[in-house]
Amino acid sequence: MDTMTSIPITRTRQSRITELDIDHLVFGATPTDHMFMAAFRDGGWQNPQIVPFGDLTISPLALGLHYGQTVFEGLKAYRTAAGHIHLFRPHRHHARLNRSLGRMGMPAVPEALFIDALHRLVELDQDWVPAKPGTSLYLRPLVIATEPRLGVKISEEYLFIVVGMPMADYYTGKLKVKVETRFSRAASGGTGAAKCGGNYGAAFYPAQQAKSGGFDQVLWTDATHHEFIEESGTMNIFFVIDGILITPPLSDSILDGVTRDSLLTLARAGGIPVEERKISYKALEKAFLSGKAIEAFGVGTAAMVSPIEVIDIMGKTYYPSVGPDALMYRLKNELQAIHTGTKKDSYYWNYIIQTVLQ
Ligand code: COI
Repeated sequence: MDTMTSIPITRTRQSRITELDIDHLVFGATPTDHMFMAAFRDGGWQNPQIVPFGDLTISPLALGLHYGQTVFEGLKAYRTAAGHIHLFRPHRHHARLNRSLGRMGMPAVPEALFIDALHRLVELDQDWVPAKPGTSLYLRPLVIATEPRLGVKISEEYLFIVVGMPMADYYTGKLKVKVETRFSRAASGGTGAAKCGGNYGAAFYPAQQAKSGGFDQVLWTDATHHEFIEESGTMNIFFVIDGILITPPLSDSILDGVTRDSLLTLARAGGIPVEERKISYKALEKAFLSGKAIEAFGVGTAAMVSPIEVIDIMGKTYYPSVGPDALMYRLKNELQAIHTGTKKDSYYWNYIIQTVLQ
């Protein structure tokens, strides 16, 4: 029996899929034909529907535009070798969405609504899930406060939207990053663990400064002492030192990354020593100075596993190992094989959407 939420669909009259250039995908620039929307009003989510992708109509007084009540997620759908579609760990993304919403004083999205919205949208726009190796359909659930009232208050109205777009690599080359000790991404007690829009907006200026110095991203340090490494822009951070996979422990200033958790799980299962522990930039520099081969990489849904080839620590340049036998590539390949169904999904991470095969 189909127990899914009933979601009315208004189909587009003119699909844009023939305009899609799969060999030249620009992240975020090619939305699929449709989007999901539901409204929160009178204390509940109402009117779920799938409509042609298009602009929203919200009041210029909408609270989310002024005071930052916006929360989002990012997850991916992959085409399997058999032609079906895998949504990767949607339940874990849902749980994080609700934690973020809670931190921002926004109403939870029921799990069934979240999963059904994704399922129905991906099913409808299934031709947009690319099969080319390294590509996927990126899905962006978003909740934004829409109550038209300028008072500084928690909104009583919201929109929950899901849009999708095919993507290839988020970062096309190996990354150059700079340890950031002037600006802060997130302070203890703040919103760092929430996937709220403000965290990203506040990071733009420091990232722009780093870019003008020739770097792709910053390596954030803790806001109190600017000593311990926390995240890189848009990614969780991992190091391999002495064969040990190291990542900073989760805290209220670090995003609980789904890719982070997946890699830790695969590494532990593969007998790789893992440490979730604080690592200071001074300890990292000491390890470089001792001549050890060190790997550094960022991980995230969009970024997947992105090798770092340069780290600037207080003006000195260090070069992590990025050779083809690096551990990060082994982990990346294993994760990719699970995404696309060429390796057994022992953890039931994939939510399978059966497609009607042509
Ligand atoms: C993701 O990896 O899904 C993100 O949300 C990071 C970035 C694209 C905003």
